[in-house]
Amino acid sequence: MFVIYTDYSNDYYRNYNSPIDLRYSMAVVEELKKQAGITACRYVKNGMKVGLGTGSTVKYTIIELGRMILEEELQIIGVPTSEATKKLAESLNIPLSDLSETKKLDLTIDGADEFDANYDLIKGGGGALTREKIVALASNAMIVVADDRKKVSTLGKFPLPVEVSVSHWEEVKEKIADICPGKVNLRMENENPFVTDNGGYILDCNFGSTISEPDIYEKKINSIEGVVEVGLFVGICDVIIFSSLSGIQTLIKPNGRIS
Ligand code: 5RP
Repeated sequence: MFVIYTDYSNDYYRNYNSPIDLRYSMAVVEELKKQAGITACRYVKNGMKVGLGTGSTVKYTIIELGRMILEEELQIIGVPTSEATKKLAESLNIPLSDLSETKKLDLTIDGADEFDANYDLIKGGGGALTREKIVALASNAMIVVADDRKKVSTLGKFPLPVEVSVSHWEEVKEKIADICPGKVNLRMENENPFVTDNGGYILDCNFGSTISEPDIYEKKINSIEGVVEVGLFVGICDVIIFSSLSGIQTLIKPNGRIS
């Protein structure tokens, strides 16, 4: 069940009267991502160690943190979840560490490809799911920033990303195909397999909206030899900052780690 606190209504969205097919133009989607990304920064306090997620929504969180460091003397240490995020954070002069040095984090802020009413997630659209999960699990709390296109009643419409070892991907693909109702595709980039920051491949698994028990699938898929990590995040997320055409909502998980 969602508990909804409306933080504010944005006049831009409230007065947006364009025809339906233009409501989610690229400019609007970008604005929704920006609003969600920036709003999450209100949870970041001086002295915190913060996991920095990956993707086009959390990018705005990271840019805003860079601004707060520069203009408001915010002091934090960031732990990036990907090489792309590391590069972005470095360009903004955000002090960085890694998990070998900073073992416990106060908070992780990250994006998601889907979230359901239990605050369970599909992640990995950007291929960074393994580090994202490791960093989130090392954190005292996780905030997700997303727009309303990511909200689903049952996970799985977004093809579930699974990171696999390069040497075993074909066997893993066959094993996942036994439990996946749709196609299992090796992710490609410029006609070559996409390679993660860890040197793995990604299988995008078309379950369709069938993942009503993500904990079972998480265990089942992770138990296949050759799987590095599956992009199901179960019981990890505490807050979703969620932007839609009617404004920003902060969804706080009942009995989560943030109140
Ligand atoms: C990367 C991720 C991203 O957080 C997820 O794909 C959402 O990205 P975006 O905010 O660009 O939609 O899991 O591995």
